[in-house]
Amino acid sequence: SPVFAKTTYLTAAHLIDVKNGKTIKSPLVVIENDKIIKVVSQGEITIPNNAEHIDLAGQTLLPGLMDMHVHLTSDANLHGYKRLAVSLPRSALYGVNSAKATLMAGVTTVRNVGAPGFADVALRDAINDGDIVGPRMYVSGPSLGITGGHCDNNLLPVEYQAKGQGVADGPWQVRAKVRENIKYGADVIKFCATGGVLSKGTKVGAQQYSQEEMDALVAEAKLRGLVTAAHAHGNDGIKAAIKAGVSSIEHASFLDDEAIALAKKHGTYFSMDIYTTEYILGEGEKAGILQESLDKERTVGARQRESFTQAVKAGVKMVFGSDAGVYPHGDNPKQLSRMVRFGMTAMQALQAATINAATLLNKQHMIGSIEVGKQADIIAVKGDPLADISTLESVTMVMKNGVVYKNE
Ligand code: ARG
Repeated sequence: SPVFAKTTYLTAAHLIDVKNGKTIKSPLVVIENDKIIKVVSQGEITIPNNAEHIDLAGQTLLPGLMDMHVHLTSDANLHGYKRLAVSLPRSALYGVNSAKATLMAGVTTVRNVGAPGFADVALRDAINDGDIVGPRMYVSGPSLGITGGHCDNNLLPVEYQAKGQGVADGPWQVRAKVRENIKYGADVIKFCATGGVLSKGTKVGAQQYSQEEMDALVAEAKLRGLVTAAHAHGNDGIKAAIKAGVSSIEHASFLDDEAIALAKKHGTYFSMDIYTTEYILGEGEKAGILQESLDKERTVGARQRESFTQAVKAGVKMVFGSDAGVYPHGDNPKQLSRMVRFGMTAMQALQAATINAATLLNKQHMIGSIEVGKQADIIAVKGDPLADISTLESVTMVMKNGVVYKNE
């Protein structure tokens, strides 16, 4: 090992092995620089006297959480017309606080799915350069969508000529937009396959983009080796996106049996933000969410939770995706207890938030579990998260790439 290698010894009462779905007692994890080099039992090796030793007695170690649906450059207090007053540079600066809050909550990786102005690219790069503190980010840039769709900006009348930066119509415009997003730094491609709750004048049940357009979009992204994510509430849009070969369906609210069967057949992941509804219906009006959006949410929220239960029962591949940004950053882990309440075991919820997410991103060799050779993205909680998943709402220790950002 290199002369300047920094070695850290981490001990705790338990370690959650998300890959094998089991708990390991009295673990000792050895970290060299940014990587995990040993996972053994305490006593198997002696910790050198002068070594850096983080002793988390009585606590449980887990891989850092991975949230597959966030908007770090969005502020939860600014919705609807309030958001129109936020400039792109200001949105990037909101991202600085959001990124820190997210990491401190134990979320060491996020997939940022939708940010105008490539503010997410700037944020990712600033984090990677060590200028600011935040999670590992995989980012999409502006979300692709049809003219007037959920991913367009429909708040202003025609004389303002407002247009979402990801708007592209027709197979070739869509391919060109994918190429443009990649040119400016996107790691993933996000698009809107149906209307949405928080957009003006769109129907959550109605498909957006034709099959032909979705086929072109996903094919172009695949050609370039990028993962794709489709915002979709209604079944027509969900099914078209799955048939196009999308990597994950976001929201997946109105699932029918055919959509579930199709997802199983294609190996499509569902990323279902089943906590969001509580914030939208509770705090949304104050934050500027439109009346029509509150009305739409009343048709989506409860139904989405039923769909979640069905999808879990059917064995669809699931990841943790929260839509933080709609609600305050750092509250992400609150969704885990809802995932358990609506049908998952605690282990399944943790797997959705770690190894499944890593696999969706094609990064399972690098992150998603506490294993030799992987990046040292490790968190700790007091007590047993398998007995009480809400312990994840108060993470005591956060390590990303071998660096400790929090240890209380
Ligand atoms: N961004 C999503 C939309 O506007 C939020 C949906 C939130 N509601 C929910 N029940 N998941 O459609």
